[in-house]
Amino acid sequence: MTTLLQINSSVFSTGGQSSLLSDHYVATWKKANPSGKVVVRDLAANEIPHLGGATVGAFFTPAEARTPEQQAAITLSDELVAEIQAADVVVIGAPMYNFNIPSVLKAYFDHIARAGLTFKYSEAGPVGLLTGKKVVVFSTRGGLYAGTPSDVETPFVRQFLGFLGMTDVSFVYAEGLAYGEEKKAEAMKAALAETEKLAA
Ligand SMILES: Cc1cc2nc3c(=O)[nH]c(=O)nc-3n(C[C@H](O)[C@H](O)[C@H](O)COP(=O)(O)O)c2cc1C
Repeated sequence: MTTLLQINSSVFSTGGQSSLLSDHYVATWKKANPSGKVVVRDLAANEIPHLGGATVGAFFTPAEARTPEQQAAITLSDELVAEIQAADVVVIGAPMYNFNIPSVLKAYFDHIARAGLTFKYSEAGPVGLLTGKKVVVFSTRGGLYAGTPSDVETPFVRQFLGFLGMTDVSFVYAEGLAYGEEKKAEAMKAALAETEKLAA
């Protein structure tokens, strides 16, 4: 069975513009893949904590040597890793907040970057282990950044996902959302049309 993992990170949860676009992708994908399974991870509804020392300590301790406290500290990360390992398609709602992804999405990324599980180092350098996945990122912005040096969000997300082995990544932008209702409606309409093409 094909599995799609939808990760939304708007503070507005399902009401966010990025969530609206990712929802549209999922609805279109579901029509094309009626037997496909959809798993939703809403980071506003269920916040991921910042990475703490106890969790990182547990990352570096072999599973069989972990204390019960370390096991408890690593449980969420293990769950998130298993969830993305099982996904064939990953859809990420990634609005721009203060020039980059929402901090809760960074916290999610911090929990899924696991040496030996999602990446490893070889003599030739780092090797991503989350391969064979299609990823679509929905980035909504108040201003205009895509394709300019001011867009530090896109290269960061691309680099992070690539490090974990996810290299088939498409970005859908809806920009200028703070430039008035007319511009916002135009940008969302174009992004919805692009979304539909990508999901079909
Ligand atoms: C806390 C916060 C910070 C923001 N920072 C930026 C920014 O740095 N650049 C920008 O273009 N828009 C910024 N915006 C506007 C959002 O990118 C825009 O409203 C977008 O639609 C939010 O997506 P969402 O509705 O999915 O949360 C910010 C909005 C919020 C709430």
